[in-house]
Amino acid sequence: MKWYAGSDHAGLALKRHLVAALRELGDDVVDVGTTDEASVDYPEYGAEVGRRVAADPNARGLVVCGTGIGISIAANKVAGARCALVHDSFTAEMARTHNDANIIALGARVIGAGVAEAALSTFRRVAFEGGRHQRRVDQLGALDTSKGS
Ligand code: RB5
Repeated sequence: MKWYAGSDHAGLALKRHLVAALRELGDDVVDVGTTDEASVDYPEYGAEVGRRVAADPNARGLVVCGTGIGISIAANKVAGARCALVHDSFTAEMARTHNDANIIALGARVIGAGVAEAALSTFRRVAFEGGRHQRRVDQLGALDTSKGS
């Protein structure tokens, strides 16, 4: 599976951990930054992952900041991005089965590495259910047309 990963400084250590875990599984991960501990602004990295995933429909995204909130908001500004802020395996599963989320957001100051890794593993494995959820996801897509991106 192809991934695009991004974080700010607060999410850097957890992102590195999760990128390594994905690569160990054989996945192809493009890390769009940040790459060091210097303080940076999360919108740049969230939006970049959003753009990359929107342009590569079979790919998934991983974004990490302190809470996961800011970087998920940034990713969701991009048309075609469906970024879900998840906190555990259950929310990761729902994000895939019901929302067809294509980007997972995690908060490095909110959950530990073990819970984050389990959530990412679930997000990677679980498929979208379709059915009644497809109609709702289509409605989300229709909202993209009102964006300026
Ligand atoms: C950075 O201090 C912090 O604000 C950021 O990582 C994130 O939590 C924002 O939503």
